[in-house]
Amino acid sequence: MFNNGTRLADVDANYVAADLDRVITTADEISDRVIEMAAQIDSDYAGRDVLLVGVLNGAVMVMSDLSRAMQSHLTMDWMAVSSYGAGTKSSGVVRILKDLTTDVLDRHVLIVEDIVDTGLTLSYLVENLKGRGAASVEVAAMFRKPAALTTAVDVKYIGFDIPNDFVVGYGLDFNGRYRNLRDVAVLGKHMYS
Ligand code: IMP
Repeated sequence: MFNNGTRLADVDANYVAADLDRVITTADEISDRVIEMAAQIDSDYAGRDVLLVGVLNGAVMVMSDLSRAMQSHLTMDWMAVSSYGAGTKSSGVVRILKDLTTDVLDRHVLIVEDIVDTGLTLSYLVENLKGRGAASVEVAAMFRKPAALTTAVDVKYIGFDIPNDFVVGYGLDFNGRYRNLRDVAVLGKHMYS
């Protein structure tokens, strides 16, 4: 036994509890929702191979869970874009830091994203991938904030609508930290104001 019987689900985030305001979505709730989303995606893409495009770095957790919950053939690729820089506000400029290695021509692409805030990143990515000749481009995002509801980007699969707070965990970071938390929590304002 390597770990004295401790299971992943038992690992908590005590070491950062003082940095966090409150948990908004627990690991169990996320995992239940991911399974529902995967089933819906499987059914919608029945008979078609889907290419999951994860948006680094935030989508690493949702990509990992969603892809393993799916019951159909799929391929995965990754893009890295920057829109936030270091901080809690969008810079408004999207840059491709790492491009796909897959040719998306005639492929059914499902962009997998951690969170939609202003929608700027996603609307840029959707247009970019459509411009490369993808057969279809849809979006799955684990979280969505209120601002995203008024943007033009159409997010077909949503995990949770959340309040307009800066959250961390399940891939979401603040200055690179907290991505490895299993729950999603509001970051304490004292951490950045
Ligand atoms: P948008 O372009 O404004 O929709 O921002 C999307 C990106 O901003 C996400 O992929 C995240 O990387 C980041 N982001 C937005 N809100 C949060 C948050 O509350 N916590 C951590 N990252 C966030």
